[in-house]
Amino acid sequence: MNHQPVEGFSKLSKQRKIDWLISEYLSNDRSYEQILQQYWNNDDNLQKLHEEFSENTISNFYMPYGIAPNFLIDGKLIALPMAVEESSVVAAASKAAKFWLDKGGFKTTIINTEKLGHTHFVLNVEPHKLLHFFNFKLKKKLLEATEDITANMRRRGGGILDIKLIDKTAELEHYFQLKASFDTVDSMGANFINSCLEQFGKTLKEEVAKEERFTQEEKNSLQIVMNILSNYTPDCVVRAEVSCKIEDLKDDSGISNEEFAWKFKRAVTIAEIEPYRATTHNKGIMNGVDAVVIATGNDFRATEACAHAYAARNGKYSSLTHCTTDNGIFRFWIDLPISVGVVGGLTNLHPLVKFSLALLGKPSAQELMSILAVSGLAQNFGALRSLVTTGIQKGHMKMHLFNILNQFGATEEEKQYFVTYFKDKTVSHHEVISELEKLRNK
Ligand code: MEV
Repeated sequence: MNHQPVEGFSKLSKQRKIDWLISEYLSNDRSYEQILQQYWNNDDNLQKLHEEFSENTISNFYMPYGIAPNFLIDGKLIALPMAVEESSVVAAASKAAKFWLDKGGFKTTIINTEKLGHTHFVLNVEPHKLLHFFNFKLKKKLLEATEDITANMRRRGGGILDIKLIDKTAELEHYFQLKASFDTVDSMGANFINSCLEQFGKTLKEEVAKEERFTQEEKNSLQIVMNILSNYTPDCVVRAEVSCKIEDLKDDSGISNEEFAWKFKRAVTIAEIEPYRATTHNKGIMNGVDAVVIATGNDFRATEACAHAYAARNGKYSSLTHCTTDNGIFRFWIDLPISVGVVGGLTNLHPLVKFSLALLGKPSAQELMSILAVSGLAQNFGALRSLVTTGIQKGHMKMHLFNILNQFGATEEEKQYFVTYFKDKTVSHHEVISELEKLRNK
């Protein structure tokens, strides 16, 4: 069936949007309306709050919100809030937290906290002439012009750290950047950075127009291409690590501590040298990071983009975690570039985000960076531990069992039967179906 384009969809009421979708795309089947309605909140204010986070909203999309307790991070015991739909992520985090609980827990270090943004522009002027103009005039003007925008941030201890002129003309004709670094304290700072950069664009235009050393032709060549923050923040990095004596690395899979240590390290080395494995390895890390990023109201697309760009910073995509087993000590760590906030955005608006931040003891942005790196490291530890011993399916399918049973409308009694049935066996889709059939035919 060919569908017709719609005019003014955003201006229709929620009900009229739904009516249009049902008649245009869903063969007038009103049962689809019930699916949408069953996710509406009974509390009209709460429903309105969620609808206003985005545009053209017709329902809410739930995600399970779970807790991984027992994380000892820099001496503090934390229960981690995780919003994630994938079975076994919360269970793996909880298991890894417990494993490290009696071994000193996780230690973290903030390496740096610099955020970045660029005014990208094109100007047909000799680079040395432009550099002179930047050093002796423009830089000061850019800082002066943004004083009002940065006043609040400066009061909180942040602001613009530096501005540099970058010559990119070897890569693209007449292309330069104003590359600015920022300290955004407890906010992720996207709006603050973009406001500063847009002002840079305006001031650059005004100052170039006034500059006596540029010819009229040179002045006319200026084009501000765009002013935008970079989600790549290789100088906003946190390290999280665990370590213990290899003799204390007790694993319950039956292999010796030494064998576990070297098998684990070899799996990390493979992720360091092999991009196919590194991608899955880092995906597993981000299972842990994103779940906490979402639960704390931060932007998981930004953290994903940054982590993967960083993983490829040496020209080849590689592991975000590393492991050594020198002098009888097992050491496992992650360097995670991550830009997050605990003020602004959804943090004061979304009730569950408020809950998450309160649960974490109202962390600063730096403390949240540490918690996120730990979540990623713990997740990777859990995945590698399974992969090099029992394999991933044993734990994963155990958690997935309920998804399979729910697909077949299993009763609580049937679910209990299957929990006992698979107590000492690896769950398989095929076996669940055939056993369910037998059970129902009895
Ligand atoms: C699944 O979501 C994540 C893993 O594949 C990660 C890994 O292989 O390291 C289990």
